[in-house]
Amino acid sequence: MVSSAKIAQKIAEIFGGSDMASAVEEAFARRFPEAVVLATTRSPEGKPNIITLGWWMRTSHKPPMVAISVAHKRFSYGLLVRTGEFVLVIPPEEWAEAAWLCGTKSGRDVDKFGETGLKAVKGEKVSAPLIEGAVAQFECVVRAMVPTGDHTVFVGEVLAAHLGPSKPPLYSLNRRLELGGVRAVSGV
Ligand SMILES: Cc1cc2nc3c(=O)[nH]c(=O)nc-3n(C[C@H](O)[C@H](O)[C@H](O)COP(=O)(O)O)c2cc1C
Repeated sequence: MVSSAKIAQKIAEIFGGSDMASAVEEAFARRFPEAVVLATTRSPEGKPNIITLGWWMRTSHKPPMVAISVAHKRFSYGLLVRTGEFVLVIPPEEWAEAAWLCGTKSGRDVDKFGETGLKAVKGEKVSAPLIEGAVAQFECVVRAMVPTGDHTVFVGEVLAAHLGPSKPPLYSLNRRLELGGVRAVSGV
């Protein structure tokens, strides 16, 4: 979880304390909970990495496609550009701690599979690894890269989908990025 003071500091760093910027952040803060995914990549040298992402979406039925938005400063950004492949992973809610580590440490500095204990499994279509025990995962090849401010949207075509255990997925619960489970409201 991120403290409120750190959020304020980060907004000030990025936007220089403008009123408009804090209004934008306040307004976006009302969207939670947000489904959180992981994306794996593998460097051309063979090193696997994992990034935690809240900014993602499904974009097409036929062919099946998804989009992920990745900041230019992330280690994963360079790997996505260089390899043109990723696996989009839907984690179960009990991976909150692992997802936090993958979302706060960089693959430049740590081996996230080693640190989290998550197990990489070979995929069928791409060299980026699947993760054992994920609720669902999608092997993707990048079909488009759309620069959007300080992030780039990578649009991936799904070449293979894999089902794991049927468990509640993981959510980012609030602007402090507390991670946990959300239950569907009964009767809806
Ligand atoms: C809940 C959560 C959601 C995140 N969503 C995104 C996102 O959508 N896009 C992004 O670029 N970074 C996002 N991040 C930040 C990255 O996961 C984080 O900077 C990570 O350490 C980058 O790893 P890498 O340098 O190995 O690529 C998120 C972090 C958390 C905790």
